[in-house]
Amino acid sequence: MPESIKLTKKIQMVDLVSQHETCKSELDAAIQKVLAHGAFINGPEVKTFGQNLAEYLEVKHLVPCANGTDALQIALMALDLKRGDEVITTSFNYVAGAEAVALFGMVPVFAEVNEKTFNLEVNSLEKHITSKTKAIIVVHLFGQACDMTEIMALAEKHQLYVIEDNAQSLGTDIKYKGNWHKAGTIGHIGTTSFFPTKNLGCLGDGGAVFSNDEALMNKCKSISSHGQGQRYEFQRIGINSRLDTIQAAILDVKLKSLKDSLEKRKKSAEKHTKLLKGVENIELPITESFSTHTYNQFVVKVLHNQRDNLKEYLADHQIPSMIYYPKPLHLQPAYGYLNGKLGDFPVSEQLCEQVLALPIHPELSGEQILYISDKIKEFFHAR
Ligand SMILES: Cc1ncc(COP(=O)(O)O)c(C=O)c1O
Repeated sequence: MPESIKLTKKIQMVDLVSQHETCKSELDAAIQKVLAHGAFINGPEVKTFGQNLAEYLEVKHLVPCANGTDALQIALMALDLKRGDEVITTSFNYVAGAEAVALFGMVPVFAEVNEKTFNLEVNSLEKHITSKTKAIIVVHLFGQACDMTEIMALAEKHQLYVIEDNAQSLGTDIKYKGNWHKAGTIGHIGTTSFFPTKNLGCLGDGGAVFSNDEALMNKCKSISSHGQGQRYEFQRIGINSRLDTIQAAILDVKLKSLKDSLEKRKKSAEKHTKLLKGVENIELPITESFSTHTYNQFVVKVLHNQRDNLKEYLADHQIPSMIYYPKPLHLQPAYGYLNGKLGDFPVSEQLCEQVLALPIHPELSGEQILYISDKIKEFFHAR
């Protein structure tokens, strides 16, 4: 792009203000409706949204809750896991899964990820299964699903529960046993987050657990409401985790355009890919044949220790970028008690040095994408 061309709009990592402008009148009406009826907790919108999202995911039961971290906690509690049980998850990951496991006195056991997809490496998973392993938290990272055919086969062989953390991949399709399903609906329980930057985000915090197993989901419902069966009859120890009625009303409006916004993310990813193909030192994300990619994040690898310099150069040219994740969980101080050390997970460790998430939201314009690729190329040519 010649220097003379100026960007007409500032590039943002996520442009929620523009996103909400496109459905402002519907959002306003939905909020006004809640203000008018006043049922701010467990109002009718919570049930309606839960049913509509379950329909979209083609899953029989869904329980909305307060956030994606709670969703993981509820799932672990519903599976009746015990102190000392081992739960395998990945080290190159957001902290929520390992944290929930540790909070309940269980042991988070980390496994390695694939260097190209950033998702759980099945060979590594198998190596970490012991007689104490009871569950796997499978994280569908950045918008692409893990290989659930292989993972479920291993889980069945070793009688393990599978929780699918779908916080970053709502709407992703996955091929399982020859048919396409929505990611998150293959294992025993799926969880998700409606944090504002997720594929389906609310205007605050929100989350959900879902499954085709009715008994398990009845338990999740009870756990999310202090363990209640009948009102004021506490059948089990639970937590308080509710999706606010206003957030449910907002999510129900945004759910209508989810397909469209995922399509826009995909188009933006295709443009990024086309423009950045062949740029030396940049490795582009790939999509496996058994999954679609909904690009909650567009994460490239920057080779030869250039990542931090590139990030700085982009920032100098008003292009935001993010590092997901700068340090693997096995090297985080909070998990030091597990005795993880440098070299345990070389792929995860190297990814933390290489990954860079570029802007990818549905509101990103072609002009902005062109500008981003232009500045990336400029950075490498100038070296
Ligand atoms: C993979 C993953 N799991 C869980 C969570 C937790 O979701 P929440 O922030 O809604 O608690 C997140 C949030 O970023 C996430 O990315």
